[in-house]
Amino acid sequence: LSLLVLHGPNLNLLGQREPGIYGSLSLAEINRQLEVEGKNLAVEVFVMHSNHEGFLVDAIHDALGKHQGILINAGAYTHTSVALRDAIAAVNLPTVEVHLSNIYRREEFRHHSYIAPVAIGQISGFGAQSYILGLQALVYYLRTKCE
Ligand code: DQA
Repeated sequence: LSLLVLHGPNLNLLGQREPGIYGSLSLAEINRQLEVEGKNLAVEVFVMHSNHEGFLVDAIHDALGKHQGILINAGAYTHTSVALRDAIAAVNLPTVEVHLSNIYRREEFRHHSYIAPVAIGQISGFGAQSYILGLQALVYYLRTKCE
């Protein structure tokens, strides 16, 4: 299995950005953990980051034929982007939505996700561990539901 991990806007600043909310690990450290967990699960993990909505749309399109599932933290685009939602619906690849923070404990505008209705499920609130749990959930889904 080959999986695409997509990090959206401002996540390149992890570690320095509001550490009380997002924790002290950098994006590179999270990516290293994902790589290790990918090896444990015997899957290939490809990681991309962009602050640009259109780049993320392109990356979702390009996943078709290359990857079997997507793990995405769309950052603030979660709450604004019909385009990202439509891209995920268009490629129809199993997608797990992750957030470091628990978006439902925060401001009202973070309570709605455009991604959620086109995702298998969502993991929110476990810090960097959300990504690991999300990867495990995606692999579990692909191995039990799709093979
Ligand atoms: C986030 C939550 C979003 O509301 C926020 O805009 C982010 C990060 C998270 O991982 O907790 O950039 O997706």
